[in-house]
Amino acid sequence: MGDIFKGTFIHTPQLGQLEIFSAQIKVINGVITEIIDKIPCTDHKGGFYIPGFVDAHIHAPQTRNLSLGLDKPLLQWLDSTTFPTESKFTGDDYLFYKQVVKQLVKNGTTTACYFGTIQNEANLALVQAIKDLGQRAFVGKVCMDSNSPQYYIESTDNSVASTLDFITNDIFKSTNLVKPIITPRFAISCTKELLKGLGKIAYKHDLPIQTHISENPDEVSFVKKLFPDSKDYLDVYDQASLINQRTLLAHAIYLSEDELQRIKASGCTLVHCPNSNFSLNSGIARTRDWLECGIKVALGTDVSGGSSLSMLNAIQTAILASKSINLLKDQNYKPLTPIEAFSLATLGGGTAIGNRNVGKFEVGMAFDALFVEYENPFQSFTQVEDSFYGFLYNGDDRHIKNVIINGRNIHFD
Ligand code: GUN
Ligand code: FE
Repeated sequence: MGDIFKGTFIHTPQLGQLEIFSAQIKVINGVITEIIDKIPCTDHKGGFYIPGFVDAHIHAPQTRNLSLGLDKPLLQWLDSTTFPTESKFTGDDYLFYKQVVKQLVKNGTTTACYFGTIQNEANLALVQAIKDLGQRAFVGKVCMDSNSPQYYIESTDNSVASTLDFITNDIFKSTNLVKPIITPRFAISCTKELLKGLGKIAYKHDLPIQTHISENPDEVSFVKKLFPDSKDYLDVYDQASLINQRTLLAHAIYLSEDELQRIKASGCTLVHCPNSNFSLNSGIARTRDWLECGIKVALGTDVSGGSSLSMLNAIQTAILASKSINLLKDQNYKPLTPIEAFSLATLGGGTAIGNRNVGKFEVGMAFDALFVEYENPFQSFTQVEDSFYGFLYNGDDRHIKNVIINGRNIHFD
């Protein structure tokens, strides 16, 4: 019974620790049940398996304006580019969303944490597209009841009620792979009442939570003005019971030392979105400090604040972001290694929400994997590790020959 995947496997059993081995991995009902004949391996034999990528922060509808408006800072970009696009989504966007999910899976994203829009019909179309393609995902109905344009806002009651409608929809009953996630957009677009209502729902229904935090200086000062009773940005969410070990907070560039300590204590995850942080000129997050503090860290594309839907781009940009801190600001700052960035894109996101764990090849983990073939165009490799680095720095979807999610080969047509 079950399936056997045989070959060379590359993963990080612990953050930043690369392990390469050859083995036969036995998978039953999507879960690794046995690793047979495991031996260390260094030779390049033409291809290798890595864990599938986890994009811990992506806005599915924003793919419609990928790469547009990125000359503006966050709050202007939301008004000029993002809100007009998101507001037009309807239940008829199933085929659009199917193309988006297909592109992501082709690029190796086996798990995605999606922001949808405020419209449930469109969000259900997104969930259906994900189910039909077999991707693992968390999908959030976006909530916003204030400081948003008249054409793209909801009342507090409607936002809470349609969140309840969404999370209890039968569409989630026939799948173990796609789950709802509570999604206040960010503090600016949510009243205290809405945040509290969403905190209660997350607790009662035992659901994860995702939102944005401390992405841009203008955003941070507006939040301070809007929530004078909160001691800082994190406290706005904390007072609404939105911060716990199943929370994903994207960006987190301008958090104080005290906020970082409280994040560490809460067990929530910070999602580093380096392409977006550069593209919207938001800032450069100090991910090394997060790791040294013991905070859980994942990686996200943040499309379309980020201009690429590929997690390989997120890995590359994360490395460059950390190097730019070292070069421009702080010589003592240790840049991320490629292995660490790869770890964040697999293990980091895979264990963040603690649902069914993915991100490494161990008994008990779900088997989500990419089969990669990457050759140096100018000289052949002898070491599989070199082929792996070539893929990380210079690879793309053409080198991903097979995508396996929950033990199942994904077919694209
Ligand atoms: N903050 C609130 N909404 C958004 C969004 O759509 N993208 C990004 N990058 N930041 C946000
Ligand atoms: Fe975002």
